[in-house]
Amino acid sequence: RRELIIAIDGPSGSGKSTLSRLLAERLGYLNIDTGAMYRSVALAASRAGIDPGEEERLAALCAGLDIRFRQNGDGGLRVLLNGEDVSGPIRQPAISRLTPRIASVPAVREALVAQQRRLGAEGGVVLEGRDIGSVVFPDADIKFYLFASAEERGRRRWLELKAKGFEVELDQTIREVEERDRTDMEREVAPLIRPEDAVDIDTGGLSIDEVLERLLAAVETIR
Ligand code: C5P
Repeated sequence: RRELIIAIDGPSGSGKSTLSRLLAERLGYLNIDTGAMYRSVALAASRAGIDPGEEERLAALCAGLDIRFRQNGDGGLRVLLNGEDVSGPIRQPAISRLTPRIASVPAVREALVAQQRRLGAEGGVVLEGRDIGSVVFPDADIKFYLFASAEERGRRRWLELKAKGFEVELDQTIREVEERDRTDMEREVAPLIRPEDAVDIDTGGLSIDEVLERLLAAVETIR
């Protein structure tokens, strides 16, 4: 059995994060949530008072950041930014809004893509993001593209935020999902696209377990 490189791409709220984590757990692989990496840079930039327009300062900031993942026993994936657990702060609505702007800065993408390639080079990884199959690992052993309607994804994010105690409107959350899709798909650098050779999964109307079984079945065909 070889240690595979598994790429999972898709829009926000498609179920990617949960499913990547579960798939990695089942295979005993490392889960790399690249969205969390862009969010961590956005958090660090916001704390340092650096604007998305200041590319040089952002490049310098990235050079000094150490982002790691720790899989928790209870199933959670913790994100460590220079040793600090930022798993909570990177999900704040203000950081969610800032992240796409930070993620479209070429110097930021260069720095993070290089780090993602280093982390994944040995295989035994599930990488999750927007450009994994298209840019980071175009030669991944298997690529998945997860999607669902904006209403479905907005509703999921709304439930998530409510569970964490954030006061938000459902309509507003759906609009934010649509807005984020647009920024992610229309930007010039590494836009979200469906890789041609990806296995498509519409997660709308499927339970998490059902999607996980499909992912595992597809992985088994190449193992
Ligand atoms: O997946 P998540 O919603 O946490 O990603 C947050 C943001 O990070 C996305 O809206 C997108 O702008 C950016 N991102 C990216 N490339 C990736 C992963 C995330 O540009 N590979």
